Amino acid sequence: MATTTGTTQAKPGPPVEEGGSGPIVELRGVGKSFGNIRALSGVDLKVSTGEVTCILGDNGAGKSTLIKIIAGLHEPTSGEYRVDGRPVKFSSPREALNRGIATVYQDLAIVQLMPVWRNFFLGSELSTGAGPFRRLDVKRMRAICDEELQKMGIDLPNIDLPVQNLSGGQKQVLAIARAIYFGARVLILDEPTAALGVKQSGVVLKYINAARDAGLGVIFITHNPHHAFMVGDHFVVIKLGEMEFDAPRSELSLQDLTHHMAGGAELDALEHELERGQVPEVDPLHGVKSKESVEPELPHQAERKG
Ligand SMILES: Nc1ncnc2c1ncn2[C@@H]1O[C@H](COP(=O)(O)OP(=O)(O)O)[C@@H](O)[C@H]1O
Ligand SMILES: [Mg+2]
Repeated sequence: MATTTGTTQAKPGPPVEEGGSGPIVELRGVGKSFGNIRALSGVDLKVSTGEVTCILGDNGAGKSTLIKIIAGLHEPTSGEYRVDGRPVKFSSPREALNRGIATVYQDLAIVQLMPVWRNFFLGSELSTGAGPFRRLDVKRMRAICDEELQKMGIDLPNIDLPVQNLSGGQKQVLAIARAIYFGARVLILDEPTAALGVKQSGVVLKYINAARDAGLGVIFITHNPHHAFMVGDHFVVIKLGEMEFDAPRSELSLQDLTHHMAGGAELDALEHELERGQVPEVDPLHGVKSKESVEPELPHQAERKG
């Protein structure tokens, strides 16, 4: 099943708000280098309860590196990481999880052949009895799983079915419900809709909203501005390891976001070139012609240039 690494889970309970009304998670000028490779630099980020923060960026932009820092998998090489207003240094995802920071990775840690309820409790199984009579408390685990899924409005026909019978979207949603039940305050979702079709993506987006309404701070990583804009309260675009853009929902439109994702200034320059007809000419037999070898202009080209 889903979420978090490790075999045991944080204790169940509702999200607890510590540290008053400030952000739960805050990064100040955070950077990360791998030897000579600088994957991330100067990142400032605040994640608050009841808010969806979207992190967008191209492949290799540094999104996964960023969330691995928040999740406790990487230590930043510069800057400061704060939880509930106090600096922290996590040396494992377990430590982050103990502070309520849970991560649902793209390749969900699901056991396909196990029933839904077993996956819900995977690594945190409840038991009953003592000593040699100790055994799994199947009855209670089934009941809690059923209740928690109902609470989130997740309607599965049968929680005894193996998880492999669920759709991709339902598996993601199961992972989200599980993280909430086990006490997550911050829920990190790494590209949960990347491998899904339109309808299944919609299912996941709906439960991102549900997690926010349950009071969690959600970090939603995606490279799809449409998905981000449907649920996001705050948007951050990362490019080559740096924050290119950072704005609350009130300050931007879907068009702005799409524009930033598509490369912003670079796209403007390209558009400008295309308008002026300065695209390299392609000779079907010999590929791109060099400027010197370009034949005299044909009349229609001269017209277009005005
Ligand atoms: N463990 C690592 N060692 C060396 N380089 C890494 C490591 N992890 C990430 N990188 C580099 O950091 C950059 C950002 O990667 P990543 O955070 O995975 O980007 P994204 O998730 O946005 O696609 C890439 O250039 C990648 O090669
Ligand atoms: Mg990634």
